[in-house]
This record gives sequence, structure tokens and C-alpha cells, in this order.
Amino acid sequence: MIDVKDLTMHYGGFVALTGVSFQAREKEILGLLGPNGAGKTTAMRILTTYLYPTSGTAKVDGHDILEHPEEVRKRIGYLPETAPLYPDMQVEEYLQFVGSARGLSKSALIARLRWVREACGLEAVWKHTVNELSKGYRQRTGLAQALIHDPKVLILDEPTSGLDPLQIIGIRDLIKQLAKEKTIIFSTHILQEVEAVADRVVIINEGKIVAQGTQKELAEEVRTRGHQKSDLNLEDIFISLLMPKKREKQSV
Ligand SMILES: Nc1ncnc2c1ncn2[C@@H]1O[C@H](COP(=O)(O)OP(=O)(O)O)[C@@H](O)[C@H]1O
Ligand SMILES: [Mg+2]
Repeated sequence: MIDVKDLTMHYGGFVALTGVSFQAREKEILGLLGPNGAGKTTAMRILTTYLYPTSGTAKVDGHDILEHPEEVRKRIGYLPETAPLYPDMQVEEYLQFVGSARGLSKSALIARLRWVREACGLEAVWKHTVNELSKGYRQRTGLAQALIHDPKVLILDEPTSGLDPLQIIGIRDLIKQLAKEKTIIFSTHILQEVEAVADRVVIINEGKIVAQGTQKELAEEVRTRGHQKSDLNLEDIFISLLMPKKREKQSV
């Protein structure tokens, strides 16, 4: 469904991504995990065609992001780090506005509005203005705008950041629910987030992929590099892959 090939991104002299390649299969939840500044947002902005890579490319549902960006956009729903909301609009008005801007016909829009209202749990705030909403409901509204045109792929940039524990659980459940019919890539710097939600993980650090696979595969990889512990969780894996030198020093 998504095939990212050898992406490199330079901001002036600064190299934000180097040789990044990964795939996401249909209806898979792929977690892009890495510390702040790793290049997660950059990779997502390239995938959603908002940013041109310096080199490399990607395909979304068979369409190249450089050759057919408009086909790619049709197939992608994007929730950026800060959801693009209009504070004075009611939730319903806002989603109507986004839906028409994405070219939905009147009847399709009515059907999709009904669907996102239920799927994103927005019934209680449907007639509220965006500035009245809690952060959790804002994020749900952000998700609803990403879903209004019924894309096959969802790209979610740190979808649970800034939410309280209950809101986090709500958004996680929603993501898992949506993955029954969508391919989802989400980014996070929080280990528990990928542990809870992702089928597969791509670990990125300083613009490079340091490992990718299922949690089980990553544990195996770390073990072959000489890690002693038998029951590795993602935190052990993360530390082992991102801070190998530090770990060596600690164990001396
Ligand atoms: N427009 C930009 N110009 C220059 N540097 C940028 C720009 N956007 C991001 N960067 C830098 O690129 C690196 C990766 O950023 P980003 O993709 O936002 O990482 P992440 O989302 O993983 O935190 C960071 O060091 C960041 O400061
Ligand atoms: Mg980011």
C-alpha cells in the first residue's frame, strides 16, 4: 500500500533524512518511532506531498508522490502535529467545509458526515464551536477531517500528544478500530504508544532508520547483537538500538 524508497531530505545544509525506506501493507498500523528531531514529521510531510524530497520517492496505492501528487492526496488523510481547525466554526460546519473543499458531492458529504460523526465519537460536540472543545475532542475532530473523503491511508503525526490518559486510550481505540479498513502510519516519540497500537515499527533516529519490524523481530535483532535479557520489551530494544554506546558504558 505504501512503499517509501530511499528518501533523503536536506533543509539547506542540514540533513533531516538519509536513505529512508520502508513499507506499510494494506490495513496495517505502522508506528514511526523516534526521539524529537528524528525526522518523523519530515517523512510524513513528504508522504502527504506537502514537501518535496531532495531525492528518493514513495508510492501510495501504486501512485508516485512526485509524478501523481493529486492521486496520492485523494488516497491520504493527514492529521498534522497541530490539527488544522478553525476555532469559530462548529464541528459540523467545519467538517462540511473540509468535505466540500475536498470535492465531495452533496449526497456523499451527508453520508460521510454521518460516518465520521459516529466513527470519531463526535455526537456530543457536533454543534459546538471548535474553541469550546477539549483537547481530546479537538483531536477527534482533526481525525474526522482526515477521514471525511474516505481515504485508504491515514497519516497521523503524534496523534495522542498532549492528551490526558483517558483521551489517549480513546484515540488509541479509535486508531485500532479504523485500521479494520485503513492503512495507518502514525508517529510518536512514546514507546508505550507503539507497543499499544502498532503492528510494525520503524525506528528512526537522526534521519536514519535504525531498525524496523514487528516487536518480536526487533527483539530478535537486538538479541543477535548480544543483548542478554530474554524477555525484551520495546524500551530495551529502543535503548539498545539508539544508545548502544551508552549501554556499553553502563555495563562496564
Ligand atoms: N523547515 C525546516 N528547516 C530547517 N530545518 C528543519 C525544518 N523542519 C525540520 N527541520 C529539522 O529537521 C529535523 C527533523 O525534524 P522533524 O521532521 O520535525 O522531526 P520529528 O518530527 O521527528 O521531531 C530537526 O532537526 C528539525 O529541526
Ligand atoms: Mg514531529
